[in-house]
Amino acid sequence: MADAAEIKNAEEQEAHQKNQELKARPIPRITIQCFCENEASAGVLQTVSEDRRLMKTHVNIQSGGIEAAIAYFANSPTPNLIILESSKTRDAMLADLDKLAESCDPGTKVIVIGHYNDVLLYRELLERGVSEYVVAPIEPVQVMEAISNLFSEPGAKPVGQSVAFIGAKGGIGSSTICHNVGWAMSEILKSEVVITHFHLPFGTLGLDFNQDPIRGIADALFAPERLDEVLLDRLLVKCSEHLSILTSPGTLEREYDLGEDACEKVLEIIRMNIPYSVIDLPHVWTKWSKMMILQADEIVVTCAPDLANLRNAKNLIDLIRGYRKNDNPPYLVLNQVGMPKRPEISVKDFAEAIEIEPSAVIQFDPESFGMAANNGQMIEETNNKAKSAAQFKELARMLTHQNTEAEESSKGSLLSPLLGRLGKK
Ligand SMILES: Nc1ncnc2c1ncn2[C@@H]1O[C@H](COP(=O)(O)OP(=O)(O)OP(=O)(O)O)[C@@H](O)[C@H]1O
Ligand SMILES: [Mg+2]
Repeated sequence: MADAAEIKNAEEQEAHQKNQELKARPIPRITIQCFCENEASAGVLQTVSEDRRLMKTHVNIQSGGIEAAIAYFANSPTPNLIILESSKTRDAMLADLDKLAESCDPGTKVIVIGHYNDVLLYRELLERGVSEYVVAPIEPVQVMEAISNLFSEPGAKPVGQSVAFIGAKGGIGSSTICHNVGWAMSEILKSEVVITHFHLPFGTLGLDFNQDPIRGIADALFAPERLDEVLLDRLLVKCSEHLSILTSPGTLEREYDLGEDACEKVLEIIRMNIPYSVIDLPHVWTKWSKMMILQADEIVVTCAPDLANLRNAKNLIDLIRGYRKNDNPPYLVLNQVGMPKRPEISVKDFAEAIEIEPSAVIQFDPESFGMAANNGQMIEETNNKAKSAAQFKELARMLTHQNTEAEESSKGSLLSPLLGRLGKK
């Protein structure tokens, strides 16, 4: 029989899995109208409406519960989704809903927030066509899950996770870290990873992997309406068993003004088809780059330890935190630390100012990085003893929520339970 620890483990895994699935499901461009009875519920719905997963939706929150909804929709068309709060008991609530049903358009879905954990009520609500019943006090994640369950296509393929990399300043190694971590992810997870870069046309993604594509991301970005799984397949360049890149030839024949919608379409197709998408963003601040950062599941901000990086990183991280109240804060990587003769801000002071502990502090190592760049290889491939090679693997595990290498190896050891017990004596 399973013991308590196993059950807990299974529960945690299930919760993690649920969270991962939820994370991967942004809500489409729907309109949602909410009618709350109390401030606590309105506050939670406000938080939900500001979440990145609802970025494309239109959310309106009003007070007054079902009665207000009945009055409102008597003269107005109903939206894609109505969220109603009612603290009434079964019969009174059902009577209100019947009244509302008279003015509800056929395509409208309804979620009810109730105050009674009543199975009979739940069944009757479902019979009347209510899509979901949640009991107050509600949590943001619970509401987002309910919405996402209603508006994601049934039977859709599991969508991919995305990680966006951006530097606090230009030239401080954000792309190098992105490529090495993406490569490490594909090696560790043995699952498809695609690295997409948006440094048109100066990026080094092709060079770093010793590839010179003839076509690439530009084809997708300039004709997003043509992009589908088949075209994506043709544009991807395979670098190793599980790693592909979506890059562009480094030529200046055309100018590149990227549109938000085109970028979004490219990412959407990748997410629908590939489990892990790693996005290499240039150090620019435009509508499309902001959108791509805010929409990613995880974000890595790379900085060098100087004042300009500190100021930029603080602004960027504060903005990200403001927009993503229900997500992890971004991961901070300090790079090129210990450059000879350069005055630097200490790691401790940097972390304190930004209020994030760095997930990795990578030393300035021109020999390893220079050799890898010139060979078109990853650090691990040119010098697997370099400290940064191990750091890239740790980052890859962190970003994909895997166990650390130490946890992994202790799990696999037959002697570990025995050694653990000996250690306790
Ligand atoms: N820790 C390091 N030690 C030594 N050199 C490094 C280190 N990290 C990156 N580099 C080198 O710094 C240079 C710039 O790196 P990279 O192109 O990755 O920066 P970036 O932040 O992406 O720049 P851009 O603003 O152009 O996008 C490269 O030559 C790279 O090899
Ligand atoms: Mg770059």
